[in-house]
Amino acid sequence: MKRIGILLSGRGSNFEAIADNVAAGKIQAEIAAVISNRADAPGLERARQRGLPALCLPSKGLEREAYDRQVVAVLKERQVDLVCLAGFMRLLSPYFIREFPNRILNIHPALLPAFLGLEAQHQAWEYGVKVSGCTVHFVDEHLDHGPIIVQTSVPVMNDDTPETLAARILKEEHRIYSEAINLVLNDCIRIEGRRVILK
Ligand code: GRF
Repeated sequence: MKRIGILLSGRGSNFEAIADNVAAGKIQAEIAAVISNRADAPGLERARQRGLPALCLPSKGLEREAYDRQVVAVLKERQVDLVCLAGFMRLLSPYFIREFPNRILNIHPALLPAFLGLEAQHQAWEYGVKVSGCTVHFVDEHLDHGPIIVQTSVPVMNDDTPETLAARILKEEHRIYSEAINLVLNDCIRIEGRRVILK
């Protein structure tokens, strides 16, 4: 059985969607660790309520790599095969990336490479795009940057607010993150440069 490690900093709705699919047997893996860099992350509490191994590793005041060494040590100790960032509000160090080559995923609430960084849904709404969406990609040391595994689009409506757009996107996030996890865990893809090819 493959082992998933989840890193989060906040609400944790993507984590919960993944955990639901694991519980339902739609992802054949187990969640071996849920780690938050913030003690007050609601996602951490939800993980505990589900009886999953959850812990807080506070990042405050630590240098990037020093922090990442702590996280990697826990992930290795828990024998994690695949790391899923689920609203983890930190850039990973080259050290972290090297320790899990092509084994770290992230979800971003826009169609990359548009609208990197924070509040991507708000950025897209403000820009006036007619279509936005979400992206699951491999993680490298650059922000929202690695090869793209799955993307899906949603329309932007005339009467949307950033909040209604974000809700439409979030629903798709919850679907495609698990889809991408299955593609990677079941060895259905190969990476050619920036391109992820379905085998
Ligand atoms: C999501 O919008 C995700 O795309 C972004 O951070 C947010 C996390 O939300 N990376 P949640 O904590 O999973 O509810």
